[in-house]
Amino acid sequence: MQARIAAILTEAKDQGIDYISGGDIARQLGISRSAVWKYIEAIRSDGGIVDAVPGKGYQLVNSDDLLLPGAVSVETNVIGREYVYLPEIDSTNSEAKRRIRVGCSDGLVLAAENQIKGRGRMGRPWYSVTGKNLSFSVVLFPEGISLSRAPFLTPLSAVAVCRAIKKAVGLSIELKWPNDLMFAGRKLGGILLEAGGEMDHLRYAVIGIGINVNLSREDMPETIADTATSLLLAAGKPVPRRRLLEEILISLDSYYTKFCTKGAQSILAEYVELCSTLGKDIAFLWHGERRSGRAVSIAPDGALIVITKSGEMLTLRAGDVHCL
Ligand code: BTN
Repeated sequence: MQARIAAILTEAKDQGIDYISGGDIARQLGISRSAVWKYIEAIRSDGGIVDAVPGKGYQLVNSDDLLLPGAVSVETNVIGREYVYLPEIDSTNSEAKRRIRVGCSDGLVLAAENQIKGRGRMGRPWYSVTGKNLSFSVVLFPEGISLSRAPFLTPLSAVAVCRAIKKAVGLSIELKWPNDLMFAGRKLGGILLEAGGEMDHLRYAVIGIGINVNLSREDMPETIADTATSLLLAAGKPVPRRRLLEEILISLDSYYTKFCTKGAQSILAEYVELCSTLGKDIAFLWHGERRSGRAVSIAPDGALIVITKSGEMLTLRAGDVHCL
């Protein structure tokens, strides 16, 4: 019921209706006005700023930023058809894998207000601040996609997020192979893909996405202060998280549907266009040895093709690269 009230207040705000009366809400939902008031209190304790004006009704002031169920709503094929909001969790990717074990729906989105053990690639911690980031995971049970094609979900997600940020915030971000979302040479977000299956059968994929949305310089710990940025810093103004999340889910759904029905080719071309690593001289680890070369192209599964000075062609499927 709380989600339905959040949905009514959000929709009203989206339509430019400032206040909606407790009586109207009560009638729409077939509950008493005192029950409405109780749920309004629950929305408040979940971070909703609800303005109540006698004779006018209620307004969800921060509806553009709230990630509460009901407030977030998208019309998509698969991604986000079920949406779960977690005030606090260790990691949305870990929670996604726990839910996969007991059974959950295709396209489930788990969004956390706070992650206490957020994970990045290569076992690194992923830092976030309550109420200022987007930290969410998407569960997929793809049919007809083999395990060997699963890595392509990383560049696919990167392109989808990039397009959504352009649409919602107006910022052009760059992609650093394999999974970094960058702005002006600093990291703005990342993608953690975890997939499972047997033989070449892909059973599930979890796409974890973390974006620094409204982090200020002061919010960033020393370990990332020199290398990270946020949409707030890049755009020079706060970015409404709910609007951005909805845009990302719609974009992800459309690229995923395209991948499932038409294959990787056109998305790969978009990734190549947005990938700032291509054409650069890079250093990387190759079987434990430091090597360097020029990043020349992206393979159909998202791997990076590098040509060394001696003309050797290497295909990087994992790891970090550093621009020289
Ligand atoms: C990286 O850049 O190394 C990937 C960062 C991915 C972070 C996201 S936040 C939501 C999801 N849950 C996690 O624990 N990690 C991913």
